[in-house]
Amino acid sequence: MVDMNSKNLKDHVDDLEETFSFWGKREPYFCVLTASKFLLHNMTDQGKMSDQALDHFYSLGESDIRFAFEILEHNGININPTMALDFGCGVGRLTFALAKIFCFVIGCDISEPHLEIARDNACQFGINNVHFIKSSANLLDRLSPESFDFIYSRLVLQHIPPILSKAYIRQFTSLLKAGGYMLIQLPTTSPAYAFNPEASDSPASNRMGNDRVIAEGDADTSGPKVQMFSLEIREVLEAINEGRCQLIDLVFETGRDGWTSHVFLVRKDG
Ligand SMILES: C[S@@+](CC[C@H](N)C(=O)[O-])C[C@H]1O[C@@H](n2cnc3c(N)ncnc32)[C@H](O)[C@@H]1O
Repeated sequence: MVDMNSKNLKDHVDDLEETFSFWGKREPYFCVLTASKFLLHNMTDQGKMSDQALDHFYSLGESDIRFAFEILEHNGININPTMALDFGCGVGRLTFALAKIFCFVIGCDISEPHLEIARDNACQFGINNVHFIKSSANLLDRLSPESFDFIYSRLVLQHIPPILSKAYIRQFTSLLKAGGYMLIQLPTTSPAYAFNPEASDSPASNRMGNDRVIAEGDADTSGPKVQMFSLEIREVLEAINEGRCQLIDLVFETGRDGWTSHVFLVRKDG
């Protein structure tokens, strides 16, 4: 088994770029939401993208952002709607919904094929308060410290090895303005982290990650595997607290297949 901790952050980023760029070329929408209705051949009509399928895909981003704002409202938070970052933006599903609320949104992703589609669709939809950039091991190479009022990330950190996802959470704390908020969703336990009295070595944490073939229905599954990882709540809190940030709320999300995920609402001091 490969020791995830023996690789440096750049190696992990290179692996993620290879995997997600492959799927970004092959199945950009299905790679974001693995339902067979988002396979290209189900979204196109005689080779042309169906407006209806595209609208449906992006409308699900609006539902996710509504849920995010319900969490903020529940906590009595009025966010400054100036500058937001959508980390792991894919084809802009959540970026476009955020762009209806914030003056300006930066979408950041490791896969250039996803980013190209996000840029094209932004043009097609007439959304001009978004900008898409390529991710890297150190986001502060391209983004200024203390420049965001809000950082959002959903369905992304779950694919990133813990050593790197923890580094990203630390970077988010540096990118937030004083008084800014981040809302990040990630799995906090995996099926491997469960009490099993039959097994001699349980419970076992899922630090090595689980391979997951990106597959459902009639998808062509040949290609690099997308991995799933969890980061324990304690580790997320460690990364948050190192960066002058505090946990405001922890929202449980029902997982599937034994994965449990949480949404962390975090505020930067000041
Ligand atoms: C399941 S998709 C979710 C996309 C988007 N958050 C959404 O919900 O519509 C996961 C995305 O994370 C991106 N990703 C993976 N590793 C990344 C990294 N190191 N930096 C930025 N994005 C990354 C992938 O390229 C992919 O677009």
